[in-house]
Amino acid sequence: RGPVVVLDGPAGSGKSTVAKLLARALGVPHLDTGAIYRAVAYHMDSKGIPPEDSELLLRELEVTRVEVSQGFVRVNGEDVTREIRTPHVDSIVSHYAAIPAVRRALLGLQREQARDGIVAEGRDMASVVFPDADVKVFLTASPEERARRRHLERLSKGEDSDYQQVLRQVEERDRLDSQRECSPLKVDEGALVFDTTGLSVDEVVLALEKEVRS
Ligand code: C5P
Repeated sequence: RGPVVVLDGPAGSGKSTVAKLLARALGVPHLDTGAIYRAVAYHMDSKGIPPEDSELLLRELEVTRVEVSQGFVRVNGEDVTREIRTPHVDSIVSHYAAIPAVRRALLGLQREQARDGIVAEGRDMASVVFPDADVKVFLTASPEERARRRHLERLSKGEDSDYQQVLRQVEERDRLDSQRECSPLKVDEGALVFDTTGLSVDEVVLALEKEVRS
């Protein structure tokens, strides 16, 4: 089987772009675990189930089936790949992701994807989901740089974007993801910390590929 490589890091650290290219270079699948949390948040929110309503949430979790394959995400058979990438989902996802039962329910799905090796990205890849990964990386960049990347990405898709608002959202999501009790975003002991501020995507991918092959 191929290597198991994990990338953790805050919103906008370049994880997704880097993880996709690195997976291609290594010939293993790519797993975006943020998409799984987004799909659950989108689904619950569409059903009118707020993160505070733990009873309803638990009941709905039992009948919620998330599938990921080749860049697509489905919930109970419905393709939600596009719907999960909105500023609204950005603003609600961390509240659902902080709930232990949600995280527990998604553990098996994430681990199953690594049978043939994987490049998996998220927040708790190294600490919880794949503690025995072959290579653990923590990608980071300054909040301003991360907000700038998000902002430019939205503009390039023809979407409205306000830099100051994106920066505030990025900082709020960082705060929620790193201060929650269950599986917070943090640097794992065995992780290589990689600051991508000012580096091109290619430079980061090349450096990581070298690290995996060494
Ligand atoms: O990576 P992305 O920004 O799409 O992740 C969306 C949200 O999903 C994060 O802000 C975080 O709240 C949650 N998440 C998580 N654990 C992961 C991946 C994502 O809690 N492994």
